[in-house]
Amino acid sequence: MEPIKITDSVYWVGAIDYDIRDFHGYLTPKGSTYNAYLIVNDKKITLIDTVKHGFEEELLSRVSKIVDPKKIDQVVSNHAEMDHSGGLPGILRHIGLEKPVYASSMGVKNLGGQFQGAGLNLKAVESKLDVGEDLVFIETRMIHWPDSMFSFLPAQGLLFSQDGFGMHLACPERFDDQVDEKTWGPLALNYFANILTPYTVQIAKVLEKVVAEGLAAQFKILCPDHGFIWRQNPGRILELYSQWVQQKPSQKAVIVFDTMWHSTEFMARVLTDYMAGQGIETRYHSLKNTHRSEVATDCYEAAAIIIGTPTINNQLFPSVSDFITYIKSLKFKNKIGGAFGSYGWSGEGAKLVQSELKTMGYQVPADEVRYQWVPQEKDLDPLKALGKTIADEIKKL
Ligand code: FEO
Repeated sequence: MEPIKITDSVYWVGAIDYDIRDFHGYLTPKGSTYNAYLIVNDKKITLIDTVKHGFEEELLSRVSKIVDPKKIDQVVSNHAEMDHSGGLPGILRHIGLEKPVYASSMGVKNLGGQFQGAGLNLKAVESKLDVGEDLVFIETRMIHWPDSMFSFLPAQGLLFSQDGFGMHLACPERFDDQVDEKTWGPLALNYFANILTPYTVQIAKVLEKVVAEGLAAQFKILCPDHGFIWRQNPGRILELYSQWVQQKPSQKAVIVFDTMWHSTEFMARVLTDYMAGQGIETRYHSLKNTHRSEVATDCYEAAAIIIGTPTINNQLFPSVSDFITYIKSLKFKNKIGGAFGSYGWSGEGAKLVQSELKTMGYQVPADEVRYQWVPQEKDLDPLKALGKTIADEIKKL
């Protein structure tokens, strides 16, 4: 396993996970990488972040092509989540448990909690650390964990941005100039929508600080913990993040549903055709065959999310309940909501969706539309009226 040289003194020494598909409930159809970096100079050897447990040997193998891993003097953990810290105990056992592991004060707490009894020599960082040059720490609390921080080599204009500016893609290419935006753009958006959306307020503040302090112009190379290293055009991903944090909806509707005996499915199809006929870009997603995180990416961009469910034993259909729980955690802003569904006798499902939409703070301009038993298209004027109301709201944007 070979390291990849980034500058004269900084190397990528991470791991590529071609096989992962379920990343704590988020679909990663193209796998992922766990990026780690080695700073090497005459004075210090510093490892920046590690890898998921199980990939320790891959990291050590890459490091060993540069230096004996036992010569690593210190480790910096920018983010305590297990995909970057799971390998810490094994790597420290190999290089020496006495070696210091620097993290934010919350990182020390979180790593200590995660690795009780591992004997890690955890130390809280101050404003900067000597890595043979200055490594400056930038507070990024809650982007996206309480412990998260960036670290920056001002002399090289190189920022280690942990989860920020990442994407999930396993491939041998490591740099933005090796893959075009048509390939990486949708993956970066999918990552932002599913991982960073709940923290857009905090991200916007960091971006404002970066601009106000003139740091953006100093960032020549961005080194995230997943995906590509941005060396050709780091400004492009910064520009995209500045747009994405605004959560500005496009004139698009997502119709997402599940069905028991095809009646709610039929309603979804009629509604999709109707809204498309109103000139709205409309996306149709059955939860039987589309993963919640793929639907969520479409939802992130859309102005309206219209959810269909049958009623089963007085409740939502389980996959619809799962989907609502998922998007509730993403805290989407500026959304219009709608609910529909067929039922046999009690019909609580669509009402429960309507209630959830209101709880999530969506604009809900019309009552839910329910149909008892099996609808024919001629029965669905109320559903088309719901579509018309929502289409009209979207057109006001
Ligand atoms: Fe890539 Fe929040 O871990």
